Amino acid sequence: MMSRYLRLGVNIDHVATIRNARGGRHPDPVRAARTAAGAGADGITAHLREDRRHISDGDIDRLSREIDLPLNLEMAATGEMLAIALRHGPHAACLVPEKRKEVTTEGGLDVVSGFDHLAPYVKSLGDAGIRVSLFVDPDEAQLGAASEIGAAVVELHTGVYCDAPAGAEREAAFERLAAAAAAAERLGLECHAGHGLTFESVAAVAAIPTIVELNIGHFLVGEAIFSGLDSAIKRMRALMDRSRAEAGGARSA
Ligand code: PXP
Repeated sequence: MMSRYLRLGVNIDHVATIRNARGGRHPDPVRAARTAAGAGADGITAHLREDRRHISDGDIDRLSREIDLPLNLEMAATGEMLAIALRHGPHAACLVPEKRKEVTTEGGLDVVSGFDHLAPYVKSLGDAGIRVSLFVDPDEAQLGAASEIGAAVVELHTGVYCDAPAGAEREAAFERLAAAAAAAERLGLECHAGHGLTFESVAAVAAIPTIVELNIGHFLVGEAIFSGLDSAIKRMRALMDRSRAEAGGARSA
């Protein structure tokens, strides 16, 4: 099968984490977004959390006005975040679960049991022309509910795969990702993936042909300390492209 172009969304949350460690303006996540654009990113992703621990309202405002790449706003399904999304009109909104004390997004959304809560958010965002994505674990029941609720996109949580030790556990986690990506295609859902991806784990995920976008943040910002953000993103981009080409696709946007 000729696989599709694989987009890279660069998540700049942790540039803001470093900035916030001291307050002030440095390092600037908007500058990171510009660097990402120059290094081959296809989109910018930012998570405005309820506690504003990294990205701020002002960052979302500037990213919306100053960056040419499409903005993917990660957000919890709350009234406050919906109002912010409708005010800025990002290209896409990815609904994620949010627990106040978690260090990062721990698991996917439970679309099956949260269906009635999530449905009006999916509708309001979609009606405003924002492409709605649901961050889910690679689980067919969740994908079925995502399709039924009217989401355009699912983003598969790759954290379990990335954290699994090499061997049977990792292979099983990979099989769940591949099966979920195939199920998304059957259900007519655009399939993205992300969380915890590194230079080492990206190749296998990039080779899954029905995934069309990867969102990667923490590793790239960490790697930027050693090699620079531009170089880290270019290397990630090259690994994605090589893996996809070897899996049978051509790079054509
Ligand atoms: N996708 C979603 C929905 C996320 O919540 C995150 C983390 O903010 C990512 C992708 C990126 O994960 P990481 O920072 O581990 O690359």
